[in-house]
Amino acid sequence: MYYTGFNSGKSFGANSYFIHHQEGNWLIDSPRYVPHLLKAFDRMGGIKYIFLSHEDDVAEAARYASWFGGTRIIHAHDAAAMPGAEWIVKESGPFQVIPDFLVIPVPGHTPGSMALLYKQRFLFTGDHLWWDRETNTLEVPSVYVWNEEQLHRSTRCLMEYQFEWVLPGHGSRINLPGTQMRLELSRVVQRFHKAESLRA
Ligand SMILES: [Fe+2]
Repeated sequence: MYYTGFNSGKSFGANSYFIHHQEGNWLIDSPRYVPHLLKAFDRMGGIKYIFLSHEDDVAEAARYASWFGGTRIIHAHDAAAMPGAEWIVKESGPFQVIPDFLVIPVPGHTPGSMALLYKQRFLFTGDHLWWDRETNTLEVPSVYVWNEEQLHRSTRCLMEYQFEWVLPGHGSRINLPGTQMRLELSRVVQRFHKAESLRA
């Protein structure tokens, strides 16, 4: 698993990741289209799947897909951002692409936001969830929210999964033991409860 670097201004500087896998490599969101990365991806066997967490972070995905013959995966609700995508996700619940790769729709930031859980360890979250180094807490968007209720629901749903890494588009990455990660996520959910009860 690699952090690609070469963040693209077209995705607001979002992070991208690369998974080297025996059943085909994955690109998670899109970096800039640069010869250095083309060579590096080529050396590792190309790209089979391009997972697009949401509409903001597609950047150069079309060029990578056409160069490597990769399958772009994007949710139907955000698919207008990626014309010609090979795999339009219609599901509203989680599903497996191949063993070890679970797609989890997490609407909230955008209608078609999705997370990808790899090996029950690595959670790629797009702009749904990240670590804040200043507060040392997990955070969800408070601005640029399409639907707050959905955002809360999607975050609560993540409590059902095990993971040790949060790998976001923006914000910091974090690696914690599974139990600690769960605790941190439950704190986010508690904050929702508080905010909701204050409003009630
Ligand atoms: Fe975004």
